[in-house]
Formats: sequence, C-alpha cells, structure tokens
Amino acid sequence: MDTKIDILLGMQWGDEGKGKVVDVLTPKYDVVARFQGGPNAGHSLEFNGKRHVLHIIPSGIFHESKTNIIGNGVVIDPVIFEEEIHDLEKLGLTPEKNLFISRRAHLILPTHKLLDAAYEAHKGKSKIGSTLKGIGPTYTDKTARTGLRICDIETLDFIDSFNAKIEEHKIILDSYNYDYQETLKSMVDSWLKSLNTLKKFRFIDAEYEIAEYLKRGKYVLAEGAQGTLLDLEFGAYPFVTSSNTIAAGAFSGLGLATRLTGRVYGIVKAYCTRVGSGPFPTELFDDMGEYLRKVGNEFGATTGRPRRCGWLDLVALKYAVMINGVTDIALTKADVLSDIQELKVCTNYKVNGILTDRIPADNNAKIEPVYTTLKGWKENISKCKTYEELPQTFKDYIKFIEDETKAQVSIISVGPDRDATIFRNDK
Ligand code: GDP
Ligand code: IMO
Ligand code: MG
Repeated sequence: MDTKIDILLGMQWGDEGKGKVVDVLTPKYDVVARFQGGPNAGHSLEFNGKRHVLHIIPSGIFHESKTNIIGNGVVIDPVIFEEEIHDLEKLGLTPEKNLFISRRAHLILPTHKLLDAAYEAHKGKSKIGSTLKGIGPTYTDKTARTGLRICDIETLDFIDSFNAKIEEHKIILDSYNYDYQETLKSMVDSWLKSLNTLKKFRFIDAEYEIAEYLKRGKYVLAEGAQGTLLDLEFGAYPFVTSSNTIAAGAFSGLGLATRLTGRVYGIVKAYCTRVGSGPFPTELFDDMGEYLRKVGNEFGATTGRPRRCGWLDLVALKYAVMINGVTDIALTKADVLSDIQELKVCTNYKVNGILTDRIPADNNAKIEPVYTTLKGWKENISKCKTYEELPQTFKDYIKFIEDETKAQVSIISVGPDRDATIFRNDK
C-alpha cells in the first residue's frame, strides 16, 4: 500500500512560521516538496544560534540525508535560486546532492519582475502590495500557456524563445510607459548567467518520482507557501497571490492523487499579521499593534516591510480549517503574547451590521470583528519543553482554539529555534 502524503501550509496571511515547523518535522520524513509560490515566500528557521531564510528551496534542505523537491506548481527565479544556493554552499552544504527540480516548474523572467512593478504602479492606491518578485505575471503567462518551463532550458531554441518572450513583455511595458532601458540589460545578463547554477541540478519528472517514493513506503511532506487567506480562489480577491496556497494546491502543484492525503498541518500564528494591502478585520492600529510588531519582530523575511498586526481571527481560522481539511494545528509565536493581561480573540464578524461567522466574498463589505476576551499569561514560555509546563491560561487559550476550530493543536512553537518546539504527547 502506498504511504500517504502529509501537507503543511499557512492558515492566515503567510509568515505563520511554516519554515521553522517544516525544519522541525523533516527528520520524520524522507522527502520535502514545495508545491506552489516562488520567491515571494520567505521561510525562516533557526538552529545553533543562526537564522536562515529560504525563498524557493524547501525548508528540509538543512537535513542532508533528506530529499528536497521543487514541484511543478512553483515558479523559479534562477537569480534568486543562485543566491540561495551560494548561501547554502557557504555553510558547507552541497545542495546538488539532495535538491531536485520538476521539469514542469515555470521560470520567472526578468521582465516578469518589471511587469509586476509596472502593474502595481499603475494601480496606484489600490495596489496589491506585491513582493515585486514577478509572481503574478509569471502565473499569468502560465495560465495563458505562453510561459517558459525548466524543461525548456534544455532545448536548442531556448534562447530564441527567451528573447521572444522578453520582446513581447517589452511591448506591454511600453504600453504602461514603464522605463526599463537602464535596468533590463543587466537583469537579462545576470539571469542568463545564473542558469549555469540552475543547470547543475537534476531536473526530474517529480510527479513520477513522488509516486515512486510513496509506493516504496517513503514519507513525503508537501510544503506550502503564503497562507490560506492569500489563496487565489479563497483569499480576499484581488488582494491575494496568484497560486493555490490551500491543500488542494499540493495535488496540482506536485501531481498527486487526492486519495493519498495523510495529515494536514495548519500553521497558525497565535495572533495575526499581514503584509501588503487588503482586508484585515482584526488589525490593530494602536500601541498593541506596535507592541506585537516589535516583540514578534514582525518585519517581512523577503521584503523587510513592517507587517500589519492584529488579534487572532477565529472566523478566518475556521474557514482555513474547513477549506484545507486540517487535522493538526501547529501554533506558533504564543511566546510573543506573554505578559499581555487580556487577549482578544475574534469569534464573529458583523458584516454590514449583520452578525455572521462567515467571511464575505465581497471585499468591500464592512467587517467589524466581534471579540471574546481571554486571560493572558505572565510567564515567559520560551523555555518550556513540555505541554504540562505551560501556564494554565495559555492552555485555556489553546483549548479555546481547539473548541472553536474542532482541530487539535498538536505542535506548539515557543520560539524561533528548532529546539523551542513542544509536541503534545496526549495528541
Ligand atoms: P513562514 O513564511 O511561514 O516560514 O514564516 P516567516 O519565516 O516569514 O516568519 C516567521 C518568523 O517568526 C520568523 O522570523 C521565525 O524565525 C519566527 N518564529 C517562528 N516560530 C516562532 C515562535 O514560536 N516564536 C517566535 N518568537 N518566533 C518564531
Ligand atoms: P510566506 O511563504 C506573507 C503577499 C504580498 C502581497 C500579496 C501578493 O513567507 O508566508 P505576490 O508577490 O505574491 O504577488 O504578493 O501576497 N505575500 C506574502 N505575505 N508571506 C508570504 O509568503 C507572502 N507571499 C506573498 O505581501 O500582499
Ligand atoms: Mg514568510
């Protein structure tokens, strides 16, 4: 019998701590595979007092005996890939040995990045707040069936196809009056040069290889990027990213059969953050928001932008649990909440004045959060090693989340380091 594939993904607006939890779980798996997104992601993890940030490469890469795969659903910028590889090599790792790339993954071209900037500039105040990594334009070309893929690199007419795409994009950039004269040539040069690093890696038919792993009884973890509320279908469109960040994205992003789903780990920050524009019902504009940003060090791992901060939103979380079929919650960053006397948790919305526990599809709807207040804890929990050691009021906070979402909190992260992780043995 085939083993089942476990999926790990973000339950909010990204930056929930996915990178850290993947790194901690990797010893239990043989393979870690990223299924969507691209270098818009910034997945951080820490061990031996050092922080590492990954953008395209799966977060299992620091475990050298484990296989890491970049799936077909991912979009790859070879320049950023090369930078990441150099960072890993500086640490003494040899990623060519345990990192493989799907032949079907799409390439982010230099002009995709410029188009991202041109579109955002054109939108003015209604901009999405994109990471400007070229994500939207690359997925646009993918769905328009005009993109370039990893397998194209190996073809004889690759350079011709590349140049043709650049020329096509230049026409669009011209129509937006976007000035690329000074930047494009050097961007193209470094892009083409960086292919030499990319070509050192084994390009694979990842869907076949993953099916083989599962057939041979190996354990595979699918790593998501961004978060459920940034999903192209179920986020607050258009303030979303351009891929399916939800569990369903793992099947199309890796080529899996849905009957092979195992556990679904939903990574949940104990409060909420969001970068970029778009609705954020529990956002705090006061000192408490500032406090969470400071204590939680809430600045983007990819762009350095300050993250918007707010209270935990259970309406949104219940939606994410439902859409993803979450079996296990990994609760992160509750250590940031230590020393706050009263914690608010949003349990309902008033949408245009009407009480509801549903997220409206129309992002112009006026949402007012309805809060329940829970007692905080004074203790520093970052050194706790077992669930039993945690303060009762924190256990009550966890129980409240479990009762509302009907999902179990089976992992509790109490600090950025690998070691600051509690597995609940009663779960
Ligand atoms: P990701 O995109 O979901 O992987 O999350 P990011 O890496 O963008 O952001 C999460 C940030 O919180 C990183 O700086 C992590 O090092 C840090 N982090 C992860 N878990 C914890 C935790 O339990 N407590 C604290 N204080 N920091 C954490
Ligand atoms: P990780 O994987 C947080 C946000 C951007 C913007 C919107 C669209 O680290 O959790 P895009 O560049 O994708 O077109 O931007 O999505 N965004 C993220 N926010 N974490 C991320 O990834 C994000 N990736 C994209 O800020 O609002
Ligand atoms: Mg991140």
